[in-house]
Amino acid sequence: MRNILVTGGLGYIGSHTVVELIKNNYTPIIIDNLSNTEIAVLERLESITNSKLDYYNIDICNGPALSEVFSKHQIDAVIHFAAFKAVGESVEKPLKYYINNINGLNTLLDTMETFKVKNIVFSSSCTVYGEPDSSPVNEAAVTKKANSPYGRTKQIGEDILQDCKFLNTVSLRYFNPIGAHPSSKIGELPLGVPNNLVPFITQTAAGIREKLTVFGSDYNTKDGTCVRDYIHVVDLADAHVKALTFIKENPENKFEVINIGTGNGFTVLEIINTFEKVNNIKLNYSIGPRRPGDVEKVWADASKAKLKLGWEAQLDLNEMLASSWNWQLALKNK
Ligand code: WQD
Repeated sequence: MRNILVTGGLGYIGSHTVVELIKNNYTPIIIDNLSNTEIAVLERLESITNSKLDYYNIDICNGPALSEVFSKHQIDAVIHFAAFKAVGESVEKPLKYYINNINGLNTLLDTMETFKVKNIVFSSSCTVYGEPDSSPVNEAAVTKKANSPYGRTKQIGEDILQDCKFLNTVSLRYFNPIGAHPSSKIGELPLGVPNNLVPFITQTAAGIREKLTVFGSDYNTKDGTCVRDYIHVVDLADAHVKALTFIKENPENKFEVINIGTGNGFTVLEIINTFEKVNNIKLNYSIGPRRPGDVEKVWADASKAKLKLGWEAQLDLNEMLASSWNWQLALKNK
């Protein structure tokens, strides 16, 4: 198993995974339609990995173009990132999400079946749990109706993969990916106003945003703000490499879901305070109303990832928030 098709490979998690794949002697073939990233990421990836990368500007819903890539390369496995992922936007534009995320997956799987490629690592999400009854949440927890069309596309995606018996699938349920590569050459590149907490924090600290609003402080948590399980994107990227090893070592596997989180929950205020301390910055923020659709608290039981993949998070919150800020500073000079 050598040639890995990475859909969405110029995106935030995809680009960090490309770096880890090359470190582990895989050959990534990247497809990305640049809808949520920029072509400059390719040259930065080539600089970090000191290698020339195969890249195709292809929309995942374009079956004929996808078939051409499969014809040209002997694809041994696919890591499928290409999807829209903004929870709030999916509520406003559900069809955009169902077309891209579900039709895209179907087009990919149809092409894989045609070319007899069965190995796939799927980018799923803790949003499939909805508001869990309790945390830490494990993979056996009931998956309730997701809080957003985005979360539903991940639930439907997992059902499709489970029904396709020709596949050997590992579905990784990410918690909250943050941080950036230590080189500060790649990181999260939100186009427009960030939806997510950490890029909003770093843009506020950089003076791009005037103030951060904390969405609600009346939740039933230690300081009233929501709890999430934040995971360093480099640790998350490593989990994909270990998922490929699992697939290689378990050829009979059909469908395995695995949480990728640290197992620790932090409140929004704890993230803000840690960011200020680690980077010696005073952040301008105020408390505002709750954001509709937000889950109150969720963090992972990550024991299955350790058992099945031999993976556990290595990088702590200080490193996550220091690398996020270093990336924001580097962006100013790009
Ligand atoms: C985190 C907390 C907000 C912005 C994300 C991804 C989703 C999935 C899970 C992968 C919440 C609060 C935020 C702000 C705030 N990942 N917040 N002010 O909603 O957990 O979902 O991780 O699939 O795709 O979107 O992450 O960063 O938006 O919010 O107070 O300006 O920060 O209320 O409590 P979320 P988030």
